[in-house]
Amino acid sequence: MINRKSNIADSFTLSERAVVYPGDCLDLLRDVPSESVQLVVTSPPYNIGKEYEKRMHLDRYLRQQAEVIAQCARVLSPTGSICWQVGNYVDGGAIVPLDAVLYPIFASLGLKMRNRIIWHFEHGLHCTRRFSGRYETIIWFTKTDNYLFNVDAVRVPQKYPGKKYFKGPKAGQYSCNPLGKNPGDLWVIPNVKSNHVEKTSHPCQFPVELIERLVLSMTGEGGWVLDPFLGTGTSIIAAIRHGRRGAGAETQTKYVALARQRIEQEMNGTLQTRPMTRPVYDPLEAGNSLTVAPWTKKDSAQMLLLEKTKRKQRYAPK
Ligand SMILES: C[S@@+](CC[C@H](N)C(=O)[O-])C[C@H]1O[C@@H](n2cnc3c(N)ncnc32)[C@H](O)[C@@H]1O
Repeated sequence: MINRKSNIADSFTLSERAVVYPGDCLDLLRDVPSESVQLVVTSPPYNIGKEYEKRMHLDRYLRQQAEVIAQCARVLSPTGSICWQVGNYVDGGAIVPLDAVLYPIFASLGLKMRNRIIWHFEHGLHCTRRFSGRYETIIWFTKTDNYLFNVDAVRVPQKYPGKKYFKGPKAGQYSCNPLGKNPGDLWVIPNVKSNHVEKTSHPCQFPVELIERLVLSMTGEGGWVLDPFLGTGTSIIAAIRHGRRGAGAETQTKYVALARQRIEQEMNGTLQTRPMTRPVYDPLEAGNSLTVAPWTKKDSAQMLLLEKTKRKQRYAPK
């Protein structure tokens, strides 16, 4: 059925441009024809007790994921890709990297892993009993060896664009690709925290620019992008922005509404997002005054305290 006012359908047909299914992803997937989707991209629940998930035993969680992944593999085109973006499951302070325990599920379906992309960000919870987590991964699988991958669409600036061959038959010619370099498998992209322009009330959105890179390199114009755990609609936004089609399912009514609203805004050009080409903010380069610690000034209270302590230690009896 299409909501004619918004151009966003709520059930799947191949002729649509955007589909937000308000319900369980397995029900949406049932309506999707086999081999019709070019890219499945998602960030599933991590089973860590967020407001939209019930914590369950890891084995049960993996069985549920396996059911969804099998359906995603069925709907995937022979040239298509599946990108599963995950972090850690935490149990009594011990972490289980979800990509490691999910890998056998993808492999058992005959899918081939192409990259394990590290998504590094600088902000998040501060841990006290382990190092604070500052990356998650995107595990990328394809159905066949004949998969679509257009790296030219996502090249990034070279480190030394003016570098030339200094000897051999190409001496004097530029040695790097003028279109830029392959972005590699370590992506530094800010996560959506409180001061991010894309932040909504959802606790774990991914940034649009992260998905744009996948959409541009793994799909062609008009291709279908599907996100079984849609949240606020980020994957559909990235797809629509680049002339692809997008579909997804979301069980929570408030996030269905948010996804629809954001996709509408994308369609009418009013959605604000962080541009994919913007470098990560560097407070030193930006001349931010907060980068100078006040206690490093000679006469600061902290420095005097430090001096006093040092003097005391020096004369303390051994
Ligand atoms: C990690 S969040 C995804 C956030 C999304 N990447 C975004 O950018 O907004 C996972 C989402 O999956 C939804 N969800 C959980 N189980 C689901 C299911 N069986 N079918 C569809 N959605 C589900 C949750 O409500 C939650 O919003």
